[in-house]
Amino acid sequence: MAGRDEQQPGTGALWRALAFLRSYKRESIGAAVALMLVSGANLLAPLLVGRAIDDGIAQRRPDVLFVVVGGLVGVALARGLFTFLQGYLAERASQGVAYDLRDALFERIERLSFSYYDRVQTGQLVQRITNDVEQVRSFAGSGVVQLANAFVMLFGAAALLFYLDPTLALVALAVVPLIALLLVRFVRLIRPLFQQVQQTLGRLNSVLQEDLSGVRVIRAFAREDYETARYGAVNDELLDKNLQTVQVFSNNFPFVFLLANLGTLAIVWFGGWQVINDRLSIGELVAFNTLLGFMLFPILTIGFLSANISRAGASANRVFEVLDAPLEVTDKPDAHPLPPIHCRVEFDGVSFRYPGSGREVLSDINFAVEPGSTVAILGTTGSGKSTLVNLLPRFYDVTNGAVRLDGHDVRDVTLSSLRSQIGIVLQEARLFSGTVRDNIAFGKPDATEDEVRAAAEAAQAGDFVHALPEGYGTVIGERGVGLSGGQRQRIAIARALLVDPRLLILDDSTSAVDAETEAAIQETLDHLMREKHRTVFVIAQRISTVRDADLIIIVDEGTIAAMGTHEELRRDSELYNEILGSQLVAEPVAAGGTPDSTRGDTP
Ligand SMILES: Nc1ncnc2c1ncn2[C@@H]1O[C@H](COP(=O)(O)OP(=O)(O)OP(=O)(O)O)[C@@H](O)[C@H]1O
Ligand SMILES: [Mg+2]
Repeated sequence: MAGRDEQQPGTGALWRALAFLRSYKRESIGAAVALMLVSGANLLAPLLVGRAIDDGIAQRRPDVLFVVVGGLVGVALARGLFTFLQGYLAERASQGVAYDLRDALFERIERLSFSYYDRVQTGQLVQRITNDVEQVRSFAGSGVVQLANAFVMLFGAAALLFYLDPTLALVALAVVPLIALLLVRFVRLIRPLFQQVQQTLGRLNSVLQEDLSGVRVIRAFAREDYETARYGAVNDELLDKNLQTVQVFSNNFPFVFLLANLGTLAIVWFGGWQVINDRLSIGELVAFNTLLGFMLFPILTIGFLSANISRAGASANRVFEVLDAPLEVTDKPDAHPLPPIHCRVEFDGVSFRYPGSGREVLSDINFAVEPGSTVAILGTTGSGKSTLVNLLPRFYDVTNGAVRLDGHDVRDVTLSSLRSQIGIVLQEARLFSGTVRDNIAFGKPDATEDEVRAAAEAAQAGDFVHALPEGYGTVIGERGVGLSGGQRQRIAIARALLVDPRLLILDDSTSAVDAETEAAIQETLDHLMREKHRTVFVIAQRISTVRDADLIIIVDEGTIAAMGTHEELRRDSELYNEILGSQLVAEPVAAGGTPDSTRGDTP
């Protein structure tokens, strides 16, 4: 039924989440059996009390009373034991489900494509793996048990009522449909609210997350008040939504209780009549009243839980949204490993638009470079330089055309074999909390001390690492020693060099360093570029890089505006000469190289 899905968006997802219980069959079945036994014991108790009154107390027979009380003790013990077992086993199973869900989510998060992260806020993902999983867990454990318990008690008690006195049962139960109606209304109101609460919570987390990662920018621009207000606004909204749910609860439940009390009234009235007319014993009336009381509790539980179901359903939905998110960039079924490459790089009629965007960021890019070449990419900001190099390791897939390495379309080979042969230094150098050594060896955790050192030296990071309190063992990141932007970048370069990639991509990786460091890194780059076993793509900021490159590509608004060597472009390209004059930075004098003739043009 289509309408049902519309009304209960999370129900399907919730069933899917509950299916995770299958891995915990023993615990789940154990909990179910224990539950049946608890309910049985619960239902038996009022009947025994009825017997104690009719056969023991009314007949003045201490022996019968004694036996019945003994029975009640047994029932109480059984109830205690099985309640414990049921709770314990259900909790174990639900913890297992939460564990599996978290694991599955994290595994997915590790594999999701770049384009997914372009669209989704980190805070929302954090919320899903923490709060949403917890909601599902709590429902899979105590929720399901309570719900099952409620249904067993409800139908068990109703059956016993009819067994004791069908007429009285009909009278007493007349209120049940009314209560059910109220509950349906309640659920209709509460379900969307719960969904909104979860969503708002996700947004609140996102604001927090963004603020924490951008705390320096916020301080620098004195935007604390603005950010506090932004958080406050979402927080207000959350409070408002929560209060609305409270309101719905308090608007509806008093009526439920009122109706339930009317049921009791009916019993005293009609039941009293039945007893007076000898159609019912006093013990039976007492049992009847207790059983009716037993019915109220499950009805309330079902009401409360149906709200929980919506909440858990909304959470399950959000969890599966991530688990089902398509992996846009993934191995083809018949992907083969990329053999060790010499690294001829070819862009063949490549155009690209970011998923979900209508605008073409790259169009009809054609070029080929031989193994061991250095390619310098120039262009104004936003022209598509980073986008172009990001297609090489398949961070995104081309929209049209093909990117080939040694003739292999990058889409035909396995991602791991492709990326393990590419070293990349991203525009923003991000390190992890851990030692300097761990950070440099990130792509090759089993690297020897010598390899780590060599990579650091090659990236001109050796000297400053030695000066750190504990050298390569110094902890950086979250709580460790802070590093400057240039130092971070050099560690990022060392990290890329350590895997000895056939294809090295440097995206703006020397833009954040001071003049002296810049000169040193430039030397490194020159050196790397001369090592002819590597193909290097460098998004260039410096004239010397450009001058020595085997191929210079000028990107302009997503197309190749000009292409060639330094000499060729100086001769033929007006644009190139313009860029040389206005955008590129001459190598600092400290580099010791002969200044380029264009240097005089730079400000
Ligand atoms: N993740 C993304 N989703 C959608 N559009 C994007 C994304 N990243 C970049 N763009 C757009 O693509 C265009 C090219 O961006 P790109 O990052 O490649 O520029 P760039 O040449 O590297 O610039 P810069 O020199 O500033 O680093 C820009 O107009 C940008 O708005
Ligand atoms: Mg860029």
